[in-house]
Amino acid sequence: MENISEVSLLGKSVVALENFTPEEIRLVLDTAYGMKKIICRGGDKKLSNLRGKAIINLFYEPSTRTRTSFELAGKYLGADVVSINSGTSSIVKGESLRDTLRTIEAMGVDAIVMRHKAEGAADYATKVVSPVIINAGDGAHAHPSQALLDLFTIEQKKGRLAGLKVAIVGDILHSRVARSDVYAMTKMGIDVHIAGFKTLLPRFFEFEGVTVHENLEDAIKDADVINVLRIQLERQQAGLFPSTREYARVYGINEDRLKLAKDDVLILHPGPQNKGLEISSEVTYCKQSAIHDQVQNGVAIRMALLDLTLNGGTK
Ligand code: NCD
Repeated sequence: MENISEVSLLGKSVVALENFTPEEIRLVLDTAYGMKKIICRGGDKKLSNLRGKAIINLFYEPSTRTRTSFELAGKYLGADVVSINSGTSSIVKGESLRDTLRTIEAMGVDAIVMRHKAEGAADYATKVVSPVIINAGDGAHAHPSQALLDLFTIEQKKGRLAGLKVAIVGDILHSRVARSDVYAMTKMGIDVHIAGFKTLLPRFFEFEGVTVHENLEDAIKDADVINVLRIQLERQQAGLFPSTREYARVYGINEDRLKLAKDDVLILHPGPQNKGLEISSEVTYCKQSAIHDQVQNGVAIRMALLDLTLNGGTK
């Protein structure tokens, strides 16, 4: 195995985790432990690691957690951060993605954190401008920082990654979180099981080391972790499942279903939740739920990503 101290992410864009080695993922997780201490220590959180660096958040799709946590992460590290909202920028006047990216580049920014509805948008950005690009979600393709914070949350709660059984359940077909999770988790030795309505499973499942189930019970049996995905109502053509009531009955994660998993099963959900559809209120607030921890860990992971790509890590 490569020596972790020789691994560097300096200058690397974060488009998808298929382009990351296990050692690079390890470096991000290890860096995030230090960042989490800073967030939790109380008092002054401001560091100077990224002093003099400028970061733009460019979001073409709605976001609460991801955008706010990238903004706070940059600010905690001392960078100047500006968030552009597609609804109040020249994007509404029809400016192309390329022109918007080049305009931002001309202002001297060091990183662009972007979310776009088109798969491949972040990769395209790396080809037309020079700042570091961090993909905060491109259509149904990838959401690398979410998968990293999922790994971080699992490791914090379970003390390890390799050998755990993780069930990812729900709308796999439209989920960039599922796709990034599968790459990240299999690279770190996790036994991944996915389950969903047949119409919500990718037809040709492309991942090695992943077991696909149509039956939810088989996926969650003896699971250490259940990651419940939001039904992406905005990315669905009508008719992929009979009704929301039927979905909740067959695939909703409720207290009865939790009994099939291990007693100490950890519950994750990337948010926002459709309560009563893919997850019940009781499960969201049960003692094994780490949904709230995921949000705090998201800030730590995003601090780690920004520090490593723009500064090479704490020296
Ligand atoms: C996810 C996203 O946008 O892909 N949310 C998030 O980043 N916290 C998941 C989702 O929207 O379902």
